[in-house]
Amino acid sequence: MNHLEIRSATPQDLPGMTRIYNDAVDHTVATFDVERRGDDHYAERLGSTRPGDHVLVAVDAAGAVHGYAFSGTYRPRAAYDGTREVSVYLAEDARGQGLGRRLYDELLARVDADGVHTCLAVIAQPNAASEALHRATGFEPVGTLREVGHKFGHWVDTAFWQRMRPDA
Ligand SMILES: CC(C)(COP(=O)(O)OP(=O)(O)OC[C@H]1O[C@@H](n2cnc3c(N)ncnc32)[C@H](O)[C@@H]1OP(=O)(O)O)[C@@H](O)C(=O)NCCC(=O)NCCS
Repeated sequence: MNHLEIRSATPQDLPGMTRIYNDAVDHTVATFDVERRGDDHYAERLGSTRPGDHVLVAVDAAGAVHGYAFSGTYRPRAAYDGTREVSVYLAEDARGQGLGRRLYDELLARVDADGVHTCLAVIAQPNAASEALHRATGFEPVGTLREVGHKFGHWVDTAFWQRMRPDA
């Protein structure tokens, strides 16, 4: 995975990002969407010019997207302006090889440089890989909401993980 370039996403990356997302819709509780999304799913995020909002992709030399990570609004109320929610999705064959770590290291460096005070991640349970990635990048668990999602015929808990900007 070290051959992949990590850079800001462009509109050309949207179909590749959505393909990865829709695989997670179909096979995981990582997203609580239950219906596949269209190629414009991430277009609005990409259009954000707000400092602290980023969309990064990991691409190969041919331009194929193997994973992505983003930071964006947690809740649209002014007092939440110093907070961002972050997330990351990789193609199945790109997982477990350090790519999530590379994407998050770059994402968090950019978010920190923008002066974001704290990042939140909402991790549907269970997800050992996501919890390990968040722990490794400075997040800690701060609480669990019980049975707030219903997918694949069962109730799903969500754990909130939080990282304060290191120099905050
Ligand atoms: C979660 C995800 C992004 C992690 O990325 P990744 O590239 O597989 O993880 P990395 O290889 O960078 O590993 C990061 C850490 O997690 C650990 N880890 C990776 N996969 C793991 C697994 N299946 N179980 C336990 N730990 C795991 C690694 O050992 C590493 O920890 P370390 O730095 O302490 O050694 C990826 O598995 C994925 O896209 N999953 C599907 C979508 C998803 O769940 N997204 C998260 C939504 S909250």
